[in-house]
Order: sequence, then structure tokens, then C-alpha cells
Amino acid sequence: MSTQDGELSTSRDTHLAEAEGAVLRADDLIAGYLPGVNILNRADLYCREGELVGIIGPNGAGKSTLLKALFGLVKVHSGTVTLRGEEITNLRADALVTKGLGFVPQTNNVFPSLTIAENLQMGCYQAPQKYAERFDFVASIFPALAQRRSQRAGSLSGGERQMVAMGRALMMEPSVLLLDEPSAGLSPALQDEVFVQTRAINKAGVSVIMVEQNAARCLQICDRGYVLDQGRNAYTAKGQDLANDPKVIELYLGTLAGRHNK
Ligand SMILES: Nc1ncnc2c1ncn2[C@@H]1O[C@H](COP(=O)(O)OP(=O)(O)OP(=O)(O)O)[C@@H](O)[C@H]1O
Ligand SMILES: [Mg+2]
Repeated sequence: MSTQDGELSTSRDTHLAEAEGAVLRADDLIAGYLPGVNILNRADLYCREGELVGIIGPNGAGKSTLLKALFGLVKVHSGTVTLRGEEITNLRADALVTKGLGFVPQTNNVFPSLTIAENLQMGCYQAPQKYAERFDFVASIFPALAQRRSQRAGSLSGGERQMVAMGRALMMEPSVLLLDEPSAGLSPALQDEVFVQTRAINKAGVSVIMVEQNAARCLQICDRGYVLDQGRNAYTAKGQDLANDPKVIELYLGTLAGRHNK
């Protein structure tokens, strides 16, 4: 399968048909921060129940903007976001959390002056009765957090902070989790851990949409991937097919990353 024969460049109609019944979908999104400046230019995306979907693409492509648009943090000018068939376009983030959407932003994703336990409590402030049960789930994915629950998040390493941020988003029992570059800034060993943990979260029944700078690794573990470029989908296919595609390797992964995927 290669981009030369066009199989990876799924047409909008095909994509639309495949999106039928998806747990979360975004159709034809145009969105941006400033009037008249669109960052998303007709972006489409869907995630099926239980899927792990990866989004890769160059810096500035609009990957973070797409996640923020799904989570009500960037104004969607046109197009729709739908969760389990219900339109949720431009709803506020707190309303989306109660509907089962979780989001871990790319930066500033913990409260540094609060302890790990307090950060996790903040995660379920809308349903504090869930705390004990959800804490056990989070500890099953991130045992290190349970051991150090009284430590202030500001004194943690980058990898540990990332666990707190992901743990906090899991406290409300999301059915769909949006992760923005969870492996950014981490050592290769810690990046591996994040990918394993993300897979574990997904295996526990959470649908995951992850934006990743480690594109090769992301495409290895995800069920399906999107390449976003200039605010719109360039390619969509199974993660492994994207990872092995000569055009995607040349444009987005580099020859070295391509070799590693063989
Ligand atoms: N708060 C903001 N106000 C105005 N423009 C913004 C804002 N945030 C991002 N942008 C612009 O939107 C475009 C897309 O940014 P975005 O952060 O979505 O890219 P990205 O694909 O996530 O990039 P990266 O790989 O560097 O994280 C960029 O041109 C950026 O300058
Ligand atoms: Mg980003």
C-alpha cells in the first residue's frame, strides 16, 4: 500500500462512511484563535469505541488546536463535533468532562503546588465520591503515583508529572481520552513507558486519541493514524500502513524512523 496509488489518501466520502457509529467524530472543522485566521481547515477525524488513534504532523500543523477544538477550548467556526451521536460542538470543557471526554494538554498540565493526591482529587472535583475507586484504577496504571501521593507535583520529574496529568484526566472515568504529546521532553526509556501506559489505558477500555511528536513510535502502537498538515488531513490509514508508506516516511518520519519501523 502506498500513497502513489492513492490508497492512503482516503477520500472525504470514504472517511465519512467509515465514521458512522464512531464514539467521537469531528466533521469539516474550521477553527482558529483570531478572527479571519483559520488554523483548522476542514479537518475530519473519528475514533471508534476502543480505538487508539494517533495524530502526527509537522510543528504548527494544528494538532494541538484540533484536540482543543474537540474539547471546547478553541472556537469552532464551522463543522461539528459529535460524541456518541450527540452534537457537542463548542460546549464548555467542564460539560464535556461530565459527558465522558478527558483531555491532557501539551503543557502546564499539573498544579505544581499541590501534591499528587490533591492533583488527582482536582481531577474528580465534579464527583468526589468516585475518588477512592478511581484512585485505585490510576494506581494500577501508574503505581509510582500511589507510592508518592504526598509529594508536591512541582518537585516531580517530567515523566512523573506526565503520569500525574494523565492520572488526573482518568479520575472522571472518561470514555474518550485526548492526549497531547504525552512523550514530549522525556528520555527514550520514559517515552517507552508512556507508550506502554497509554496502551494499558486503552486496553482497559478507554478510547484514546493521541497527538505525538514521536511519530514512528506512535504509528507503531496506534490502531489508526492521521497525518495532519496545514490544518487538514493529509493521510489516514492503519498506523502500520502509514509507518511503512514511502511518502509518509519521506515527508513526516525521515528515513531513519522509516528504517526502524521495518
Ligand atoms: N493561543 C493561540 N493564539 C493564536 N495562535 C495560536 C495559538 N495557539 C496556537 N496558535 C497558532 O496555531 C497554529 C497551530 O498551532 P498548534 O499548536 O495547533 O500546532 P501543533 O501541530 O500542535 O504544533 P506542535 O507540533 O509544535 O505542538 C500555529 O501557527 C500557532 O502559532
Ligand atoms: Mg502541539
